[in-house]
Amino acid sequence: MDQISRRSLLFSGGATLGALAVGSGAWTWPASASIAGGGPGADPRWVWDDVADPLIADVIDRGDVDLVNSLIRTWTTNGQPLPAGLPADVHDFMESARQLPSWADPAKLDASFTFTTKRGLYLGALYGLGSGMMSTAIPHEARAVYYSKGGADMKDRISKTAKLGYDIGTENAFDPDGTMIVTCVKTRMVHAAVRHLLPKSGFWQQTADQQVPISQRDMMITWHSLASFTWQKLAAWKVQIPKAEGDGFLHSWQLTAHMLGIRDEYIPATWDEAISQSHQVLDPVLGATPEGIELADTLLNLAASVDGGALSYPFLAAATRYNLGDQLCDALQIKRNVYWDNFFKAGWPPFVAFREAGLAMPFAPAGYWMFDEFLRRGALFYLSDGKPISIEIPSGNNPN
Ligand code: HEM
Repeated sequence: MDQISRRSLLFSGGATLGALAVGSGAWTWPASASIAGGGPGADPRWVWDDVADPLIADVIDRGDVDLVNSLIRTWTTNGQPLPAGLPADVHDFMESARQLPSWADPAKLDASFTFTTKRGLYLGALYGLGSGMMSTAIPHEARAVYYSKGGADMKDRISKTAKLGYDIGTENAFDPDGTMIVTCVKTRMVHAAVRHLLPKSGFWQQTADQQVPISQRDMMITWHSLASFTWQKLAAWKVQIPKAEGDGFLHSWQLTAHMLGIRDEYIPATWDEAISQSHQVLDPVLGATPEGIELADTLLNLAASVDGGALSYPFLAAATRYNLGDQLCDALQIKRNVYWDNFFKAGWPPFVAFREAGLAMPFAPAGYWMFDEFLRRGALFYLSDGKPISIEIPSGNNPN
């Protein structure tokens, strides 16, 4: 696809393309349906992160970003003490932010891992070629990613999000020897930095319909594009999930939301409530923007360095189309390919049925998990160019 020039973006005023509407109706989802069971019910469009935002803004303004990044690079496992030498305010924040909430339930996390051992392949496919691609059709997110620092190097950017998708599915994700708490706390700091930096971007000022990005409503929208979308797809694929495992999977995502700084009063208590909130906040905003169209194209070409895009683009595009449907993919200008589109339509349902039937075999789910883990690690290795993935606080926006 031709690169969309900044000039044409500005000329178009960043207008949303395609038939899908960008909506943001009033917040009517009841806090009584949340994990907190109640709350003041403030509209999350106007709520960000009271604790992390002012702190990280100050870290950036006083020139401490390089120091903090060099130190947090060495903080990699949940139970590890925080690195010595952190500024006291950053240390205190991280110490508090790394604490799990009282409602964290180890038994549910165990059930979540059991679920991942059996269905990790579907989760990887849905996160990568469902949720990840859907993020380009969430206007607030597409613009935030496009104009922030990470937008200049999407392979690096995606490797970090893929790390979160990997970490949440590990056996010890939230245990002292796991890595998910670290990933969440660092990501919370990155989001706080973006809230401080992006409003200074000229491109952002001229295209975005909000001043400060990544509101709590935006956070929940992205959360649904990951958790609720995946859950609904598995149901559509007729994957039979024991209730305890489904609840466990939800619990992993509830904890992730909390550790990313989302208030408990916005985090749905059950899948039914999650889906109801998702219909309210995610469905109406899905649509294409010039930034999202370009990001989608960049993502689908990430493997083009291997094969020039000859096979990888149509394969990835068809998997995306299968997951997201024609309307969204056409709006994102994702190319059709009759062969590969039919391949997924005809081949995926029997593949899922075959794999599900195989779960009764003695080698499964351990064999499935090993195979899926090989694929997951391979994908992370490719995306990170074999280097360690380090989530770091940005000190500027996309310079391009
Ligand atoms: C950074 C995950 C919500 C925009 C990140 C990173 C992760 C992540 C893992 C670190 C990657 C990096 O350092 O580049 C998530 C999850 C979310 C969420 C799990 C919700 C559940 C959002 C939302 C927006 C957003 C709602 C915007 C509307 C960004 C941006 C960056 C970022 C702009 C920084 C990119 C950079 O400049 O490096 N996110 N995110 N995220 N996220 Fe999110």
